[in-house]
Amino acid sequence: MQTQHPLMPKVRDQGNQYSQYSDLNRNTSGSSLFADQTSLPELRRSLLQWYQQQGRDLPWRTTRDPYKIWVSEVMLQQTQVKTVIPYYQRWVEQFPTIKSLAQADQQTILKAWQGLGYYARARNLHRSAQIVADQRDGMFPQTLDEAIALPGIGRTTAGGILSAAFNQSTAILDGNVKRVLARLTALSMPPNRAQPELWKISERLLDVHHPRDFNQALMDLGATVCTPKSPQCTACPWTVHCRAYATHLQHQIPMTESRSELPHKQIGVAVIWDGDGLVLIDRRKPEGLLGGLWEFPGGKIEPNESVEDCIRREIKEELDIEVSVGDRLITIEHTYSHFRVTLNVHHCQYVSGEPQPLECDEIKWVSMDEIHTYPFPKANEKIIAALEEYQRTTSS
Ligand code: ADE
Repeated sequence: MQTQHPLMPKVRDQGNQYSQYSDLNRNTSGSSLFADQTSLPELRRSLLQWYQQQGRDLPWRTTRDPYKIWVSEVMLQQTQVKTVIPYYQRWVEQFPTIKSLAQADQQTILKAWQGLGYYARARNLHRSAQIVADQRDGMFPQTLDEAIALPGIGRTTAGGILSAAFNQSTAILDGNVKRVLARLTALSMPPNRAQPELWKISERLLDVHHPRDFNQALMDLGATVCTPKSPQCTACPWTVHCRAYATHLQHQIPMTESRSELPHKQIGVAVIWDGDGLVLIDRRKPEGLLGGLWEFPGGKIEPNESVEDCIRREIKEELDIEVSVGDRLITIEHTYSHFRVTLNVHHCQYVSGEPQPLECDEIKWVSMDEIHTYPFPKANEKIIAALEEYQRTTSS
């Protein structure tokens, strides 16, 4: 029978749907946590050697500036490296220091972040920069506890920053690292159910003599070799230590939670024309989903309500004006982390009333030339693109 990986702490066998692999993790010999340490130096050595030869050349790896590394880590929290690179480069040009970021206004920051999604990251980065500027004269903290106390910095982000900037021995556990460690130890449950155990493994593995390179190497291994769908096991420096590989379970591990369907909302959206080529946009309240960003007004379609009735009702409730609803401009499907939306977008004509920001922060009539200066979420950018296309085809 398969014995427990020497790095794998005892995890509770919850006797549930995940127990089909439970004997992979069961400690049949009764050995204690990390009893067999002989492979640790070899795991570290082989990973670091692989990193020297195969590690990626990424812009935030040539700096030791904790601010720039912080920006990269926050951008990388939910976004892939290839998407982040141009945003990171523009960001450090536009806001080269913590103090310059702290002084910028939120609109400028959201515009620079536009397209990266998960905008709370940008708002938290801004708030944290203001805290560091005000309370620490712009010096990023050098202890884990102080770093984690800042908005938007969790344990893995703090570990990534402190190891990369100051070569501190602080472990990391992002999504890629969880997958690598789950496969290495043939974890018998979804990684999010074994967080404390995985943190212990990451800490235990960390090479205290080379924490910066070790953590970066672990991330690269997860991103380029130990990938979710087609792991390149023959190119992996850890194949001889990997329990998933040894048991041909690399495609089954990490186990996934069974996901229920995301809720789906139908939304009516209005592009309200004033008759002089201006359209009405509104700014969302600062907190919550897409807070501080601009959008075209609208709202959720009630059961048995038509799109047109929804738009007229929402525009009256939100802005206290009357509109007539015209042709459909576009239908957009968009998925957020916890729900899906269908945006049913219609041209509308302003009829009467003075627009009031009843459920938003601000409203503006803007021309199609200036609309690009405002930060919009991705689905609304598609509406703007559709409007531009509409104008091109109707003016020719
Ligand atoms: N994901 C999170 N941090 C990263 C880093 N420093 N390099 C590459 N991918 C990452």
